[in-house]
Amino acid sequence: MSGATSGESRYLLRGKIPRVLIPQSRINKTVKRLAVRISKDYPGKRPILISILNGAFVFTADLMRQLTIPSECHFIKLSSYGNRTVSSGKVKIVIDLPANIKRSLNGRDVIIVDDIIDTGLTTKYLKARLKRLKPRTVRLCALLDKPSRRKVKVKIDYCGFRIPDKFVVGYGIDYQEDYRYLPYIGYIQS
Ligand code: IMP
Ligand code: MG
Repeated sequence: MSGATSGESRYLLRGKIPRVLIPQSRINKTVKRLAVRISKDYPGKRPILISILNGAFVFTADLMRQLTIPSECHFIKLSSYGNRTVSSGKVKIVIDLPANIKRSLNGRDVIIVDDIIDTGLTTKYLKARLKRLKPRTVRLCALLDKPSRRKVKVKIDYCGFRIPDKFVVGYGIDYQEDYRYLPYIGYIQS
């Protein structure tokens, strides 16, 4: 775990530069690895990626472009955090899938794409909800897994990195809407 270098001083915000947990080069390799696995698992198919806004948008965009099979992508916005760093445990749908997209999931292969699985509550809620729409399969792809804080069991079919119990930012992931633009995954030292 190297600290942020001087070249990253442009990311200085509120007097703190997030330290590097996972550099951009490792993220790229891992996204590629996940894409190869997913492409192999769905030969001749066109899976539907359901990307969870806002945190997963950068990961989803990179993943989709590394797949060697065609795919579709739709977005849903859920919230369980509010503006805090600890999950409230209550999941709310902030922006739902359009009705025609919901209908189109019937019989299709769905892959939920998320940034971090933390307590697991968001994923559990979404998976149950999507299953009611009768897709053929539902799997989960998550860039980061923070297993130390899990409250409910979640099967991550495609997992990028297992990380320690740190609050991370960057590569689409925010702290109070800041830091999503970082090209690496970092953490703020407390
Ligand atoms: P869960 O329901 O606790 O699994 O919540 C997962 C969601 O909380 C993730 O998709 C993130 O949006 C957010 N989250 C969890 N841990 C972090 C973190 O370390 N930094 C920023 N957001 C996080
Ligand atoms: Mg999220």
